[in-house]
Amino acid sequence: MSIHKKTYKKVTTNSLQEMKQNREKISMLTAYDYTLAKIVDEGGIDVILVGDSASNVMAGRETTLPITLDQMIYHAASVVRAVDRALIVADMPFGTYQGNSKEALNSAIRIMKEAGAHSVKLEGGSEILESIERILTAGIPVMGHLGLTPQSIYKFGTYTVRAKEEEEAAKLLEDAKLLEQAGCFAIVLEKVPASLAQKVAESINIPVIGIGAGSGVDGQVLVLHDMIGMTHEFSPRFLRRYLNLFDDIKNAVGQYVSDVKSVDFPNEKEQY
Ligand code: KIV
Repeated sequence: MSIHKKTYKKVTTNSLQEMKQNREKISMLTAYDYTLAKIVDEGGIDVILVGDSASNVMAGRETTLPITLDQMIYHAASVVRAVDRALIVADMPFGTYQGNSKEALNSAIRIMKEAGAHSVKLEGGSEILESIERILTAGIPVMGHLGLTPQSIYKFGTYTVRAKEEEEAAKLLEDAKLLEQAGCFAIVLEKVPASLAQKVAESINIPVIGIGAGSGVDGQVLVLHDMIGMTHEFSPRFLRRYLNLFDDIKNAVGQYVSDVKSVDFPNEKEQY
């Protein structure tokens, strides 16, 4: 199949819509800091997600629930300073948008104003529709997130595949349509059967970006630290590791320790 691939100097929500129409797959990765965001942007990624997975990856917490709005703004602002091309999406943390649309709007405005992100992402469907609609009234682009929504981990109990049963699959499809109607520019679909994910992508006109959702969707997202092998405890089936930086960095540190101990480092050329 020949694939139309347009060059985008800057990726916007409109570019993503065009990519879906042109059947060009959308690439998305997380970043939480200036240095890695710069590398990811120069690598040509379309979308950078400042994910609340920073709670796990950067802070070593068990879930995404504890990360605060101030912490997300700090991470997002660091990423914004690094990026020239990619569209930047910042996660709204747990507790800043559920059940209170006014608080949702205020939280989203803080992310846009203080961090300079281009858009926000919220987890959930019909339950948070009012918050999504209120954020959209301020002209803030919203990305949805359905399927496995890690902020609800204590409701689900486990991180296993979602929507395997008909009832949950039907609700998910309905939620995806609701989010499209509300005006979301894209939806992340996490850890659901590939056949369902493809059905969702074919049923709505906004891009569906999958993680553990198969190849029938409009794009893919991974957590950068998993994809470059900086983390190594986490090995779900959907993860492809492109590097093994945990071992590479560990070996480099070991070599440095040995060079310092043996007074091999610094040598004459490495001093003044
Ligand atoms: O926070 C995150 O990294 C995410 C991705 C898993 C999509 O939401």
